[in-house]
Amino acid sequence: MRQKLFKPYLVGCALAAVVFLVAAFAYQGFTFDPRLIVFLILLLLNAHYQIFSVDGSRSFAITFPILFPVVALFGPAWACALGFLGTVSLDELDRDKLVLAYNQGAIGLSAGLSALAFQATGGIPALVVSLPVAVLTYSLLNHGLAMLVFYLRADQPALKWTFILNVFKTLIPSVALSAFFYFCFYHYDILGLFGAYFLFVVVRSGALLGHLETNYRIALIRSLMRAVHAKDPSLMAHLENVADYSKRLAKACRYPFWKMPILIEAAYFHDIGKLEINDSILKKSGRLTPEEYSRMQTHPTRGVEFLKEVPLPPAHKPIVENIAGYHHERYDGTGYPRGLKGEEIPLEARIVAVADTWDAMVGERCYRKPMPIPDAIAELRHVKGTQLDPVLVELFIELIENDNRSVHAVRSVTHRPMHVL
Ligand SMILES: [Fe+2]
Repeated sequence: MRQKLFKPYLVGCALAAVVFLVAAFAYQGFTFDPRLIVFLILLLLNAHYQIFSVDGSRSFAITFPILFPVVALFGPAWACALGFLGTVSLDELDRDKLVLAYNQGAIGLSAGLSALAFQATGGIPALVVSLPVAVLTYSLLNHGLAMLVFYLRADQPALKWTFILNVFKTLIPSVALSAFFYFCFYHYDILGLFGAYFLFVVVRSGALLGHLETNYRIALIRSLMRAVHAKDPSLMAHLENVADYSKRLAKACRYPFWKMPILIEAAYFHDIGKLEINDSILKKSGRLTPEEYSRMQTHPTRGVEFLKEVPLPPAHKPIVENIAGYHHERYDGTGYPRGLKGEEIPLEARIVAVADTWDAMVGERCYRKPMPIPDAIAELRHVKGTQLDPVLVELFIELIENDNRSVHAVRSVTHRPMHVL
């Protein structure tokens, strides 16, 4: 039944827009202002160069902010007409004509009704109220009509109600940008409109570069993690646990919050040098020979060398390399690879060292069962000040003792973490 309504619904929306357009022109009269052509060109440019985010959805759209001066100054008929004509991109021309007609009709109708709502709530003299009402009307209609399309289409999953919440998430920026375009056009006419659009494109390009960089880095980390998992699933589990413990300990010791995402990312990389260690050593079930042990001890330096090849942002590099390179330094200066002592060891490396040691003790190892929590706590106390930072050890123990959930989670660990070497 739903499916049968799909096509009539698309036709209905397109027709409703045409009826609205004719009725609105009949009511307000057909007065053409040549500046409307400029709006049309900007809208078409904007539609064609619309930016899509990685999940395929449109990044923050500025269709309405560009259209808003038309809504406010030229009335519902022109708002509907420009919404209808100005939002089609060249790429969309070869798609199903019925879907295209619906899309344009839905935007035209939303724009026209938004202009009506704008007038009904006081128009330009009451901009503080009428502008947010216009933005909300446009967005809610646009989203609501789209939700119905997904509901009626059998081959697509229905959109969740949270979809409509996006309207409220972007309400403030939409209102601000609409006001910005309106005032630029109102005070500086066409020049102001172009200026506002140019400024937006510059700002958006900058934001887009940052967005692309982040996506690229996340994709890179994911592929590295896939490689780690393929080599040894238990090493992957160890990296995940260490990242989680490190995050909690870093929070407890008031590690700067702006560096926290980098620390978590870096904790995942702390044993990345083990990718270059032979499986015969890495997966050995018995104790390592001195030769194998010294081979294993090269993994921090190998990790740093490996990470030098990874294009990380400049702010991430020192933290990531500190953790990979120094997580086996000991507080008393007898660790490796450099024999750093006390606070010479970077804070983030000291944090990860505690997390790493803990996960190695409470997890099942190749050659022994997981250590009971009280014994592991006693062992941590035993090595504080020699192997590990004493202050961080006490903070970590406090964390484990106070956090029942984490104790439970630790007890349920069933994987086999790697040697802590
Ligand atoms: Fe390690």
